[in-house]
Amino acid sequence: MGTDGTTISTEQVYAAVEAGGLAPSIHNSQPWRWRYRDETLELYADLSRALPVIDPDHRQMVISCGAALLNAWLSLRAAGLDVEVSDLSDGPDLATVPLATLRIEGTRPPTPDEKRLAAALTLRHTDRRPFTTAPLPAEQVHELRRAAEAEGCWLATLTSEDARVELAVLLARADWAEQHDPGYQAELASWIRYDSEATDGIPRPTALSSAEPRVEEFPTRDFTGGTGGEPASPSEAEERARTAQVERPDVLVIGTDADGPADRLRAGRALSRVLLTATAAGLATSPLGQALDIEATRSLVHSLTGGTGLTQMILRVGYPDTSAPAFTPTRRRPIGEVLEHLSDS
Ligand SMILES: Cc1cc2nc3c(=O)[nH]c(=O)nc-3n(C[C@H](O)[C@H](O)[C@H](O)COP(=O)(O)O)c2cc1C
Repeated sequence: MGTDGTTISTEQVYAAVEAGGLAPSIHNSQPWRWRYRDETLELYADLSRALPVIDPDHRQMVISCGAALLNAWLSLRAAGLDVEVSDLSDGPDLATVPLATLRIEGTRPPTPDEKRLAAALTLRHTDRRPFTTAPLPAEQVHELRRAAEAEGCWLATLTSEDARVELAVLLARADWAEQHDPGYQAELASWIRYDSEATDGIPRPTALSSAEPRVEEFPTRDFTGGTGGEPASPSEAEERARTAQVERPDVLVIGTDADGPADRLRAGRALSRVLLTATAAGLATSPLGQALDIEATRSLVHSLTGGTGLTQMILRVGYPDTSAPAFTPTRRRPIGEVLEHLSDS
């Protein structure tokens, strides 16, 4: 109960947990558990949903939980509740200690920004399809930077041609390493879902819409002009070059000054706030994560950002191409599977 006697209703707890569930998570693993008791909503990492190959130290799991935390907090704020979010002490035992607790302090009307972000909760999806070629206006990038900073993180943009080329190389390098790692492949395969009713994991059609797997470490020269068949005639090649729409997404990097669990949780909150801010502005987003799975490429990516501390997420952001085929949205686990305990209702 808040100091002014405000209590949280069962519906508000359910809505908060449901909003938390809409968060992005590594391989849509939804690695969170909630417990409600004594007017307090606690968030735990669910270690039974860990990804030991891609995420051995649970960094991406805690980021995912941080995104769920931001969403749940936003849902309570949109309902006009004043909520205190506990700070996470560094070095907790993830299996037993809550990552965060949300406690009702009283009532307070949501800000226009909170209302706008809450309205974007159900609209946000990872969109791996091509974007249009239009770059983001500078003011839009500032807004996304402010969103990350509001959660105590920094946001850098990779704008120089050198940095973009280096990132492309690092992503390809990490991708290549993972494509050739049987452990990674087996773990990924266990999260691909063929059943359209599955409530976690990546639906097969969505997985298919990402880039085709590469079989070579470095691309060899394509002598067919990209057609895979007969070489293009000079006039065909000219026409193709004229109409070529080369996507140039903005590349945003979210980082933290240190790399403990509290920093990673904060990075998840920043991730969700940045993604919801982008969604509310009509932008499409998708993480470019593979270069951060591997420590060696992660530190090389970090050197491109000029930021302090550590890089936590790389995002591709742009305007959705409305002519691209629709994609299959990912589904979520039912609330009964993630909310452990409900008291005082
Ligand atoms: C920590 C983290 C890392 C992720 N890494 C990638 C990635 O490397 N590539 C990608 O396409 N999506 C990545 N995602 C997005 C998830 O696959 C996506 O959030 C999940 O499948 C749920 O889908 P949704 O975002 O559309 O709700 C990542 C998400 C999180 C939270």
